[in-house]
Amino acid sequence: MKRFALIGGTGALEVAAQAVAPGDVPSTPYGEASSPLLRWRSGDIEFCFLARHGLAGVIPPHRVNYRANVWALRDAAPDGMLGINAVGGISASACPARLVFPNQIIDYTWGREHTFNDGDLRPLQHMEFTEPFSCRLHALLIDRAAALELDYEPSGTYGVTQGPRLETRAEIDRMAGDGCDIVGMTGMPEAALAGELELDYAIIAVIVNRAAGRAPSGQGIHDEIGQFMAAGMGQVGRLLAAL
Ligand code: HPA
Repeated sequence: MKRFALIGGTGALEVAAQAVAPGDVPSTPYGEASSPLLRWRSGDIEFCFLARHGLAGVIPPHRVNYRANVWALRDAAPDGMLGINAVGGISASACPARLVFPNQIIDYTWGREHTFNDGDLRPLQHMEFTEPFSCRLHALLIDRAAALELDYEPSGTYGVTQGPRLETRAEIDRMAGDGCDIVGMTGMPEAALAGELELDYAIIAVIVNRAAGRAPSGQGIHDEIGQFMAAGMGQVGRLLAAL
């Protein structure tokens, strides 16, 4: 039996539809996690899902207690942890409903509690973060997505913005110049915190819209999200079932 921890945004809650009744919200040295853990089994795998924005989806990206969430999932002793993150597509190949398995990340967020290694509960340490994601999990995702013939990009750079507002066209142009392929609001500090706890962590990014200034004129970002979220999350459900 393998156990996977999942941290998903509100749109990802549908992949946890078969979960059994949740227990209490986990309490950690960093405060309460965003939600109870939702658990279910699929074949030989036990999944343990935490709703990043709470079960009601009301915690904004900059107020998520990322430290408590990652700590709580680490306590579930997983063999691996996957973030499920809805994102906007910046590069031409980043089309709505497609999955991306990012291999790099750029952090544009500010003011978030972003480390365990600050000398409070754990000693000051400068974690190496050259490769921010687990090569093993990243390869596993690609392998299964290929076998299922999902619509996916095997790599990409995920730029993480502060939110909750969406970006301006100039901000997205700048991010494209920096090398970002996708943009979202929650990949950091989650990825770094998982690294600090030495968890095997990777992200399944679900493109739910074209980023600001990238859609054909007249197409609003919220319209696209409404149109593509379900198809993208449907692909995530199939991928998880095949892990
Ligand atoms: N920008 C930032 N975060 C997002 C987007 C976006 O276009 N789509 C989904 N999350």
